[in-house]
Amino acid sequence: MGIETSCDETAAAVVENGVLIHSNVISSQVEIHARYGGVVPEVASRQHILQIVPVVTLALEEAGVTWSDLEGIAVTKGPGLAGALLVGVNMAKALALGHGIPLVGVNHLEGHVYANWLVDAGQDVQEPEFPCLCLIASGGHTDLVLMKGHGDYTLLGRTRDDAAGEAFDKVARVMGLGYPGGPVIERVARQGTSPHPFPRAWLRGTDDFSFSGLKTAVIRAARDLGIVAEGEGARIDPAQPPAQVADVAAGFQEAVVDVLVEKTCHAARRWEVGQVLLSGGVAANGSLRSAMARRSPVPLHCPPPILCTDNAAMIAACGYRHLLKGEEEDWDMEVYPNLPMAPAVA
Ligand SMILES: Nc1ncnc2c1ncn2[C@@H]1O[C@H](COP(=O)(O)OP(=O)(O)OP(=O)(O)O)[C@@H](O)[C@H]1O
Ligand SMILES: [Mg+2]
Repeated sequence: MGIETSCDETAAAVVENGVLIHSNVISSQVEIHARYGGVVPEVASRQHILQIVPVVTLALEEAGVTWSDLEGIAVTKGPGLAGALLVGVNMAKALALGHGIPLVGVNHLEGHVYANWLVDAGQDVQEPEFPCLCLIASGGHTDLVLMKGHGDYTLLGRTRDDAAGEAFDKVARVMGLGYPGGPVIERVARQGTSPHPFPRAWLRGTDDFSFSGLKTAVIRAARDLGIVAEGEGARIDPAQPPAQVADVAAGFQEAVVDVLVEKTCHAARRWEVGQVLLSGGVAANGSLRSAMARRSPVPLHCPPPILCTDNAAMIAACGYRHLLKGEEEDWDMEVYPNLPMAPAVA
């Protein structure tokens, strides 16, 4: 079983052998936080407390298993919101102790990577091949990681300021498109006919990213065009956005996608990997997926969109690998709000 409560999704899942999904229950708080234009940590913790028992119960029921069928309980121990993480970790500890099941702590970012190993019943298993290059593009992170084997990671680059998902969220908020920004920007961008030109921060000679300059350029352009709506919540219908909003959204998305794809492909060539893996919420973006598939020098693997955003099946899949190595946690396991993905390259 996997349990995930690091941000605004309360999730539990049952996965067999780290690949086969038997259940994947996700209770999203997104509508609650949308009122405030972003995640409110205290509200998130309280919602997790309300949701965690029904979510875990449903995950067991949908999988048609009982506690005695489970070989381990994996839970996200970081990174994330401290109060939110604590709900999942304490639940997992109680269940593991009460039912005599091994407890495994999982790094949420490593979990995102393992979404690439998951399949539904009846689907062929196509396990990624090592060495591979993982782009983790999410709400809080943009990491480029070389993976040479299970649990063998080297952090090649990361964002120096905003994460890609964070930039989507901020730009959407400024333009009155609501929260979360990624899906609504994608929808609005599709209706753009002449994408607004925006600069790209290439940071040549490094595998790092930077999105705050782009974000500022978009906000400035939106202001010049009179389409700034900070603080007013969602006020534009994404089905019928004004042409200028659609063009700014399209130009912004194009710039983010261009940088993510170009830098990932460059690193894939340099490190001679056999495959590129996408993960994290931004990997749900259709434009990113198709551009990466088109331009990658090696085969691309990306999870279905529902497994790109936060879920517990990926935590179970990752926890399974740790369990195979005998990496169980003690009862004094803590939460680690700033847990990094991996050591940086020398
Ligand atoms: N279709 C999409 N296009 C672009 N961005 C998207 C899309 N769908 C979701 N996102 C973005 O993905 C982010 C959410 O992803 P995820 O759930 O992995 O982040 P998180 O768990 O909050 O952060 P982290 O994983 O870094 O701790 C949000 O910033 C959201 O705007
Ligand atoms: Mg996440």
